[in-house]
Amino acid sequence: MATVQIIYAHPDPAASRVNKTMVAAVDGAPGIAVHDLYAAYPDFYVDVGREKALLAAADIVVLQHPLYWYSAPALMKEWIDRVLERGWAYGKGGTALQGKKMLSAISAGGPPGAYEAEGYNKYSIDEFLRPFERTAVLCGMDWLPPFVFQGAYGTDDTKVSDHGQGYRAHLIQLQGEGE
Ligand SMILES: Cc1cc2nc3c(=O)[nH]c(=O)nc-3n(C[C@H](O)[C@H](O)[C@H](O)COP(=O)(O)O)c2cc1C
Repeated sequence: MATVQIIYAHPDPAASRVNKTMVAAVDGAPGIAVHDLYAAYPDFYVDVGREKALLAAADIVVLQHPLYWYSAPALMKEWIDRVLERGWAYGKGGTALQGKKMLSAISAGGPPGAYEAEGYNKYSIDEFLRPFERTAVLCGMDWLPPFVFQGAYGTDDTKVSDHGQGYRAHLIQLQGEGE
């Protein structure tokens, strides 16, 4: 069975509805592990060796976080900067991640209509995620279509709960495709 390593970053997990529900929904799923960056590194001092070991053991890497300022919370960026080292993740001899899959699982406050050419954010979620896409591709990874929750502000519990179950089902399906 393909293994999934979720790298999770939420600076305020107690206030989270969407991401908290997603994490709870995958709890106990065989071959799916969640690594909570803000819990592991409250001082932002990322243990690069530990993180590399997690990635090396995974077939599918998921970066899960709320969209913050059209990007990721700061610790996710710190994690990318420190862990995806030249000579390990990319560049000469940097083959550790080649052939693995990368999925971005994000939540956004803005509703779908906000992420269109005529909407108030002008660009699509795919466009905002291009730095993550190019990071994955530079590391020789297969970039998967992102798994996105939009319209987080004031959304109802059923939609959030359905999204959690959909997340679990989606990851299990990816595990099957990775065999
Ligand atoms: C600092 C900050 C920046 C945010 N930036 C964005 C943004 O750029 N686009 C957007 O759609 N929502 C943005 N939001 C809203 C969050 O993405 C939204 O609250 C979150 O995805 C909801 O997930 P949660 O229930 O797990 O916290 C931002 C929220 C905060 C606190």
